[in-house]
Amino acid sequence: MSDPAPITTRTPSKASRYLFVLVAGLVIGVIATVMAMRAIQARQDHFPGSLMTVMAKQAQLLGDSQKQNRCSISDTAPRLQTLRALANDLEVAFPGLRDDERFQSHASRFRATLNDALAKPPADCASLAAIAQKVGSDCKACHQDFK
Ligand code: HEC
Repeated sequence: MSDPAPITTRTPSKASRYLFVLVAGLVIGVIATVMAMRAIQARQDHFPGSLMTVMAKQAQLLGDSQKQNRCSISDTAPRLQTLRALANDLEVAFPGLRDDERFQSHASRFRATLNDALAKPPADCASLAAIAQKVGSDCKACHQDFK
C-alpha cells in the first residue's frame, strides 16, 4: 500500500487563505464606506444647497430672457417674484450666518434690489439688463464673503 497523499496538498494553501481574507476585507471596507457616506449624506441639510440651486436657475432664466429679447413684464415678473420670495428664506437656510451683520446686509440688499425691480418692472431689454446685472452682483457680493 502506498502512503496517502500528504494532507497539505488538499487544503487551501496559506497564500490563498490570505488572499481570501484580503479580498473579503476590501469588500467589507467598500460596503462600510458606502453605508457611512449615505448616512452622512442623509443627515445633511439639503435646504441651503437647494435654495441656491433654485435661485441660480431663476437668475439664469432671467438672463436668458434678456439674451433672447423676451423682455416684457410677463416674461420677467415671474422670475423676479420667485427670486424675491426665495430671498425670504436666506436666513432660514443659513442659520449659522443669520446673526452676522455682513450676511444680513447682503441679504437685505438682495431683497431691496428685487423690491425695486418689482416696484418698477423692466419695460425693455435695456432695463432688464441693468436689473439682471444688479441681481448678479448681489449674488456675487454675498458669495465673496460667505461661500
Ligand atoms: C445673503 C447671501 C447670499 C446671497 C444673496 C446669494 N447666495 Fe448663493 N450662496 C450663499 C452661501 C452662504 C452659499 C454656500 C452654501 C454652502 O456651500 O453651504 C451659497 C451657495 C450658492 C451656490 C452653490 C450651491 C451648492 O450647493 O452647490 C449657488 C449655485 C448659488 N449660491 C447661487 C446664488 C445665486 C444665483 C444668487 C443670486 C440670485 C445667490 N446665490 C445669492 C449665500 C448667498
